[in-house]
This record gives sequence, structure tokens and C-alpha cells, in this order.
Amino acid sequence: MSEPLDAWLAALDARHRAGLAPREFLKAARALSVRYVQRRATLPRRSVLDSAGKRAAFAAFYAVQHVLTAREAVRALGANAPAPSRIVDLGCGTGACAAGWALACETRPRLYGVDASPWALAEAQWNWSRLGLGGRVARADLVAAAERLARPSRNAARTDGIVLGWSVNELDASARDRLLAALLRSAASGAALLLIEPIGRAAAPWWDDWADAIARAGGRADRWTFDVRLPAAFDRTRRDAGFGRHPLTARTLYVAGGQIARRERGVSGAAPLRLS
Ligand SMILES: C[S@@+](CC[C@H](N)C(=O)[O-])C[C@H]1O[C@@H](n2cnc3c(N)ncnc32)[C@H](O)[C@@H]1O
Repeated sequence: MSEPLDAWLAALDARHRAGLAPREFLKAARALSVRYVQRRATLPRRSVLDSAGKRAAFAAFYAVQHVLTAREAVRALGANAPAPSRIVDLGCGTGACAAGWALACETRPRLYGVDASPWALAEAQWNWSRLGLGGRVARADLVAAAERLARPSRNAARTDGIVLGWSVNELDASARDRLLAALLRSAASGAALLLIEPIGRAAAPWWDDWADAIARAGGRADRWTFDVRLPAAFDRTRRDAGFGRHPLTARTLYVAGGQIARRERGVSGAAPLRLS
């Protein structure tokens, strides 16, 4: 691990694991997995973050998995060169995907996070600050934020990167349709677009339609297994929980951005974005 990542992991464990017995943490990590996989249909109606244990597992286990997976996916896709100057993370939760993208870059993009959960947004802000990343969060509906970003005269041209990790699946079908249309408009005006979801096909029946639309927009669909050294506490939890042999698997949809063309047109990334 690198130094900011090591320091962040230590601080994260002190913040979220210290108050729980390892057995309780493990139970919460398993319970979250059940909510996201077997009882996925209840996600739009009921928050998964309804207990201290689940919040701890979300913040100190799944966030680690998502930061590492996003960082590796960005590297594999070459989404870090050139580095975006801004990354908007829609359904950012604890800010994991924007952080992973930023950590893969030589320079440090400015991060913007949108989520419905105030608790998650506070964690995102804390994580980014601990990782030495600058960013700002807003409590808003992610679909409305995507539509705002896609307005031609405003944000889209100033947004280099948009990421959605493990969040599209929480939306109902009509919200997903609106979201896809908005994301494609942003991609058409030059934003790089990265979507990350787990591999299981049953978990995201909409995937193939989205992959077709992304391909028509010049993008690509991939499945990944990343073999990287894992943080010790994360690795112990996933083994004890029986979460399978490869912890960092994911599938992605990606459209490369038009950063260079936009810079050549002299579009600046300095003005603040409006997301809510
Ligand atoms: C499974 S979590 C993933 C969080 C984060 N992207 C990550 O990779 O760790 C899904 C997140 O989407 C958020 N979310 C779901 N529907 C939303 C909506 N309509 N508007 C804003 N946030 C939403 C939830 O609050 C939650 O934080």
C-alpha cells in the first residue's frame, strides 16, 4: 500500500472497527451482503444503513473494497491519463469510487460527491480529507444531479469525470432510464464516464441494455479480477466472512472523456459545479 492509503486504513479501522467486537463487525458485513444480493429488491424502499454495525461495515470494509477496485479499474482502463481535473461521484456513499479514481492519478482531481444519506456524505468528506483529496459533497438525488450536470450550457463541459459505483442498482427502472439518458448527454459533451457494478448478472438485469448504449456512445464494457495486495484487516474480514477467493472483481462500463479536446477549446475547470 502507499503511505496515504496506509494512514487512511489505520484511521478508518480506529474510527469504525474499534467500537465493535470482530464477531459483530463480521456479522454486519455479512448482513450488508445479504441486503445487497439476496434482498436487493428492498433497496429503493429501505436504507441498508439502519444499524451502527452495518454503517461500520459499509465504511470500513466495503469502502476499502470499492476504493481498491475503482483505483485498479481506472488504471486498467487508462482513465487516469490524462487525469481529470474534476470527478463527480453520483451515489458516492463514503466517497470510495471518486477516491479510487483520484488515487490512480498523478495529479489530484477535485472531487464532488452526491448522495441521499447525510451520514455517508460526512464519511466521504472525512475519507477524502484523510486521503489528502480535496472535495465537496451535496445531499441530493443522484438522477437529478446527473440531469443538472448534463445541461449543455452549464456543468457538462466543465466536468471531466463522472463515476457511479454500486449505486445504479439502487434505482428503480424509470429513474435508471432518466439517468442513462443524462449520462449519455454528459459523455457526448466530453465527460469521461465510469460505472462499476458487481459481476453477478442477476444483481443488475439492466446491465446488457446499458452496455449496448455505452457501446453506441463509443465506450466499452469489461469484467475484471484484480490481484493486488490487500490490507490485512480487510483481508481477514473477507476470509472469515467466506466472501470468495477473489475479493476485487467487478464489471465496468466506460466512455473515455474528451479532456484534451476540451482543454484545447480553453474550457476551464475552475468554476464550482452546481449539483443540488
Ligand atoms: C451501495 S452504495 C455505494 C456507495 C459508493 N458509490 C461506493 O462504491 O461505496 C449506494 C449509495 O447510493 C446512494 N443512493 C441510492 N439511491 C440514491 C439516489 N436516488 N440519490 C442519491 N443517492 C442514492 C445510497 O445512499 C448509497 O450511499
